[in-house]
Amino acid sequence: MNDEKSINKEESIFVQYVKKRKELIKDKKVLQTTYLPDELPHRKDQIDKIASIISTALNGEKPSNIMIYGMTGTGKTAVINYIGKELNKIDPDKDHCFYLYVNCEIIDTAYGILYDIAKQFIDDINQKIPFTGWSFEKLYKEFYEEIESRSRVFIIILDEIDHMISKKGDDIFYYLAKINEHLLRSKVSIIGISNNSKFQEMLEPKAKSRFGGESIIFPPYTKKELEDILFDRIKDVFEPNVLDDSVVEYCAALASRNDGDARMAIDLLRTATDIAERNGDSEITTAHVKSAKSSIEIDVVEESIKSLAIQTKILLLSIIKISEKSNEIITTGDVYNEYKDIASIINVPILTQRRIGDLIQELDMMGLINASIKSLGRAGRTKEIKLDIQKEVVERFKKDSIFKKLDDYRPPNQTKLM
Ligand SMILES: Nc1ncnc2c1ncn2[C@@H]1O[C@H](COP(=O)(O)OP(=O)(O)OP(=O)(O)O)[C@@H](O)[C@H]1O
Ligand SMILES: [Mg+2]
Repeated sequence: MNDEKSINKEESIFVQYVKKRKELIKDKKVLQTTYLPDELPHRKDQIDKIASIISTALNGEKPSNIMIYGMTGTGKTAVINYIGKELNKIDPDKDHCFYLYVNCEIIDTAYGILYDIAKQFIDDINQKIPFTGWSFEKLYKEFYEEIESRSRVFIIILDEIDHMISKKGDDIFYYLAKINEHLLRSKVSIIGISNNSKFQEMLEPKAKSRFGGESIIFPPYTKKELEDILFDRIKDVFEPNVLDDSVVEYCAALASRNDGDARMAIDLLRTATDIAERNGDSEITTAHVKSAKSSIEIDVVEESIKSLAIQTKILLLSIIKISEKSNEIITTGDVYNEYKDIASIINVPILTQRRIGDLIQELDMMGLINASIKSLGRAGRTKEIKLDIQKEVVERFKKDSIFKKLDDYRPPNQTKLM
């Protein structure tokens, strides 16, 4: 019996992976995107500006509101966290100010945001404010009283604020911006962070005029800046002779073409390292970075398909089904016929052709299909539709439950439909 057990252990399928795997990096956490390095190269100007504005809080004054703009991966959240760490060094007991961060993409109701801010400075929050159930006005009143009773400056960071505004209106922004009108002993200042440079234009005039504030731009990183960021971040963490500088430069080059996104540069290097380690390779090469790039792209496309509404998913599925059946040009009419069949099998309401036209445009904008206008002479115009996603993604999409519903379907004559 014992012998049998030890044989089984040796034959575990995992043995081969464990044996093959080679550790190439001493400290993996520096390549996690949540890791905050001690230095943030090329963000000195932005750090200086924000720090100088909010430093007035240390004298009990209300800092101006700040609006931070920049594309994804330009270091907005990292800079805000860095400043929070520095503030904590000089005011560890919060004698002067509270620096409170909330991500509005994750928490996107006015109630949720206010509650999340409140729980960061009220110790026994559960005894004071219920997680749900109160009216927003009641919560706001309690929130206001708690703030006032602290006699402090509150710096409230609303990260990814554009998500919230576009979904739920700008009430929370308006309420927080006007709270100072009633406060006597405390003060509230807001730092909003947005990907969208038109953010202030999206606000209602009453919120816009109350917000005022200074704008700070985080431009995309250049290739050279991304190189500096990567080299600085990974100094001393790779084993010797594992990573050539040219590979790091290659990651920076790819990310600089992707809107100067530092997250992308770091993701590429981390995924390339993982791939090399899994293969048991002793060196990370540009080939690993290339595989990393395609694997990241596949993940991104897969995520965007997963988040589609059911009708749009069925539409995409219809286009996939037709493309698999023939190589001929696909028109809007073909897609609509296929869509109607599938929608009725899956038992969802059938949308009008016009609405499907809108959804085709949506898929086109997302880059999942290519739709180009084609003239049919006297017969008018149609769109020529081509699927534009990698085979791997199609295969993964086929695991979606709507495919299962289709595969399980038998028409009345008992032959399988597809
Ligand atoms: N100057 C920098 N030095 C070192 N790391 C950086 C720098 N800028 C950004 N990073 C890193 O890049 C990643 C993305 O940065 P961050 O999350 O701050 O971007 P962001 O501008 O908030 O993007 P998003 O709009 O998508 O939220 C993080 O891992 C961050 O640590
Ligand atoms: Mg961010």
